[in-house]
Amino acid sequence: MAMAWASYLETGIEVIDNQHMRIVDYINRLEEAINGSDKSLVGLVLVELEDYCLSHFAFEEHLQEQAGYKFAAEHKATHENFAKRLGKYREKYKAGEDVAQQLHSMLSTWLVHHIKRDDMAYVPDVTGGIDRMNGDRQKGDWLTRSVAGFFGKDS
Ligand SMILES: [Fe+2]
Ligand SMILES: [Fe+2]
Repeated sequence: MAMAWASYLETGIEVIDNQHMRIVDYINRLEEAINGSDKSLVGLVLVELEDYCLSHFAFEEHLQEQAGYKFAAEHKATHENFAKRLGKYREKYKAGEDVAQQLHSMLSTWLVHHIKRDDMAYVPDVTGGIDRMNGDRQKGDWLTRSVAGFFGKDS
């Protein structure tokens, strides 16, 4: 069943919510590819999904550092652990192991859990940090430029 976006996943930081929604889209694309038994598509979605998650993590870590978030190091470690797990699945998949379904359920469970527990915790500090950075650097929108730095101009 496709994963649905729900209001309890909203952090209220628009740029972050958009990125989380995009990860949910990737998870659903992965499910479609698995259901369609299209192995090359599964492989392609896996690469894109991993790539997007890593950019999202780096972006979140950047916001946390800028905001002086107390648990930035712990949050980063959580991202790194997950990235390692993701990488292991990707390797197994590449080696011909049928792990796509397992990876799909791990991903959807992890994402919900991580947003609810870890991402929500940085919201007050990061929201304050964004306001401060935008206020300090009045020549243009600091946040927009930060997003472009991690995801490219079209993100
Ligand atoms: Fe996140
Ligand atoms: Fe996170």
